[in-house]
Amino acid sequence: MRIVAFFVLFFGLIGCRESVQPTLVDKPVEVRRPQSFPPFEFPADNRPTALRIQLGRQLFYDTRLSSSNAIHCGSCHVLSAAFTDGRATSPGIAGIAGRRNAPTLANVAWMKRFMMEGGVPTLETQALAPLHDSLEMGTNMMRAVHRLNEDGDLKALAKAAYGRDSIDPFVVTRALACFQRTFVSGDSRYDRFLLGQKDQINEHELRGRDLFFSERTQCGSCHGGVFFTDMEYHNIGLYAVYSDEGKARATHLPGDVGKFKTPTLRNIQLTSPYMHDGSIASLEEVIAFYNRGGEPHINRDVRVRALQLSKQECDDLLAFLMTLTDWNFVQQKDLLPLER
Ligand code: HEC
Ligand code: HEC
Repeated sequence: MRIVAFFVLFFGLIGCRESVQPTLVDKPVEVRRPQSFPPFEFPADNRPTALRIQLGRQLFYDTRLSSSNAIHCGSCHVLSAAFTDGRATSPGIAGIAGRRNAPTLANVAWMKRFMMEGGVPTLETQALAPLHDSLEMGTNMMRAVHRLNEDGDLKALAKAAYGRDSIDPFVVTRALACFQRTFVSGDSRYDRFLLGQKDQINEHELRGRDLFFSERTQCGSCHGGVFFTDMEYHNIGLYAVYSDEGKARATHLPGDVGKFKTPTLRNIQLTSPYMHDGSIASLEEVIAFYNRGGEPHINRDVRVRALQLSKQECDDLLAFLMTLTDWNFVQQKDLLPLER
């Protein structure tokens, strides 16, 4: 009798362990790149694999990364809004209003520096910012990893993905970055048009495109290239007096007051409200703002000045901006939380 009980117990335990921690086998993954995008190298210590991306995906939507246990990265970076959140500034824990408008995370793999004043050099280090910011997630990395390590399945996944015995800050920041580098958006109507599908864009939109890239508006000189950003910092005269000093917060130089990283205009139709503080509600109003030429500010870029665009020209510009939406991107199921 005792022997039978022993076997039942013994095999029962083995069976049980196996179901909790199945052997996870990882494999390299190739992140697809639209034809027109420049090649991109993943960092040597964070090459993409199926399990790294899966771990990053789980962490991106994990509320254990916030002290209130109520928000995750995806609370402010919502896929259907191209990873923005539709709010002027994002409330963090306890509903305290944040300072800035959540930017899109589309194509972050190609961005050179992060945050609107460019204070963060890599996507790996960027994840530390919301985790420590009391207005956003308000927890800190050591507390977060402690909580995550209580989860055996997650630990097994982290071990298979990065070869570490426990979940540590290295694993969390790299997995989050690895997942975010799969946010690739380059399939708008305008992209298809550039690849030769001429019927994707109508006359009205073409006139808008010509205006956008013209000497007259200079829009394309800052919002140029495949990502519709020069990745530089400019003051566009949004205010005569800035309460958020932008780049000067990082450099403390008076000449940098009011300078912000040029935002990409890909998916711009989906990412309202606009500007660093979400102060402009619609694209029509953004265009009206540029048409007026901005507020007087000593650092205002000379390219921003009254444009004298007619109503028709404003409409054309708007129509062009609407061709930059990638509807497939915002419906990509593998960017949503894993279904359980
Ligand atoms: C409470 C809302 C909120 C939460 C939660 C949040 N973010 Fe953000 N995120 C923002 C805002 C606002 C900014 C702009 C901050 C700035 O530039 O000063 C931002 C900026 C970023 C950027 C920089 C993008 C760029 O182009 O410079 C990345 C990347 C990012 N967040 C990823 C994450 C990740 C990963 C998490 C989860 C660990 C996260 N965010 C959680 C609101 C949020
Ligand atoms: C001197 C460079 C420059 C020029 C010229 C310029 N922009 Fe911008 N644009 C910026 C910067 C920088 C911001 C962010 C400013 C801020 O948040 O304070 C911005 C913001 C925007 C936004 C809001 C983006 C978002 O995600 O919030 C839109 C839309 C836009 N610009 C469209 C245009 C159009 C259309 C033109 C031409 C009429 C134009 N821009 C000309 C640099 C420029």
